Amino acid sequence: MNPRNQFASDPHLPRYHFTAPQGWLNDPNGLIHWQGEYHLFYQFNPHGAFWGAMHWGHAVSTDLVHWTDLPIALAPDMPYDRAGVFSGCAIIHDGKPVIMYTGVNSPHQLPCVAYADDTLRSFTKAPQNPVISAPPDNLVEDFRDHSMWRDGEWWYQILGSGDGTHAVAPLFRSKDLLSWEYLGRMIESEDAVLEKIYECPDFFASNNQHVFITSPLPMRRVIWMSGAFDGRKFVPSQRNMVDEGMSFYAPQSFSDANGRRIMIGWCQEQRHDSSSRAAGWQGVMTLPRIIALDDAGALTFTVAPEVANLEGSTITHGRDLSVSQAQTALAHVAGDSLVIHARIAAHGDAKTTLVLRHDPQSGEQTTVTWDRGNNELICDMAQSSLNQNTSHDCYRTALHASVADELELHIYVDHSIIEIYAGAYTVCTLRVYPTHAANRYQITSSGDVSINELIVRQMA
Ligand code: FRU
Repeated sequence: MNPRNQFASDPHLPRYHFTAPQGWLNDPNGLIHWQGEYHLFYQFNPHGAFWGAMHWGHAVSTDLVHWTDLPIALAPDMPYDRAGVFSGCAIIHDGKPVIMYTGVNSPHQLPCVAYADDTLRSFTKAPQNPVISAPPDNLVEDFRDHSMWRDGEWWYQILGSGDGTHAVAPLFRSKDLLSWEYLGRMIESEDAVLEKIYECPDFFASNNQHVFITSPLPMRRVIWMSGAFDGRKFVPSQRNMVDEGMSFYAPQSFSDANGRRIMIGWCQEQRHDSSSRAAGWQGVMTLPRIIALDDAGALTFTVAPEVANLEGSTITHGRDLSVSQAQTALAHVAGDSLVIHARIAAHGDAKTTLVLRHDPQSGEQTTVTWDRGNNELICDMAQSSLNQNTSHDCYRTALHASVADELELHIYVDHSIIEIYAGAYTVCTLRVYPTHAANRYQITSSGDVSINELIVRQMA
């Protein structure tokens, strides 16, 4: 029996976003495209919907959007990882898949290797584990999470760490994945208040520059930086948020066989922990996002085209509509698992608000507003739920200058998760827990606004 069936009537369980079959899920791990299959490993507690006893859960897909659960890949069953198999990555070495993860034996957190068979379905931990015996360079015991790349005959990896004051990403190299030479600090934070540990570093080349993505503690937001890498040091020249929502954390990216850089992030729950424990599941992955630097070195986000495979029947489709025509069209929409594609044209100080997950009786609703005059996006959960023990945050974010007079929105609603793509540079992910069906939609505006295109489709 699929353990997910026990949640069949749960109004908050996402259906087309990946969740663990049951229990707790956090970071995506070991993302890799191998022999035609996408593998998604993840931080998993099979014992309940709370963080602890970290394992690597495992799912596989041929299209990035329909996932099949596989047995647990790695369990905390060795002396060096008995307190948890923490986050890591997967690479292909000598034609075989290999996993680099963090083995935790409190208080120590150290890099460990697991070899996979050709199908990436069985795993053998290296007898040499842990493969780095202690953090170098006055780094603290927070010494975990791995990003790897190959250059010539060397494997390089960075970890997430800190020196007690600043966050640090130490850089190592190896030929055999077992003996590692320390090369110095690839980057350390300037901010010593919000950035003391770099969790989940992710590093890759894009458009003649390099990108460093990390989830620093105690900031607990995800930032990208782009800049120059000379093989030892990374010098960022710009930075921004990866996602505007507070639930989004610890993403990982990988390159697939088509050369695309694909990112998946973890969205934690934003309701009282006791509700999540009672529900029997916690944590959801975002849809896959294609990320790339533009020519000016800013990171762009596009939902993976495969997500269109999940789109079902068209509920409404119109072009060149007035706002009142769009409102009439939206009045026919009802659901909690759908996608809205909209291209909105606005001038001057016009404001346009899309009302999502609205319940006319209770007034529950979540709103997304484009303030054209201030070029801002405002995602407001103040009225998302009558349950006060859920997030009621409101996120305001500056949109990229390219938005100008037309905003392209792609809004993925899936029960308690809403992913909002606003132009090519901004994504805002929300978690909402209405207490009523809250399945209605509206659009309102002030000023000069028209709707170039509006499509609403059912999601599978
Ligand atoms: C980030 C994180 C990682 C760690 C893992 C443990 O959410 O704290 O740094 O490897 O989760 O579950």
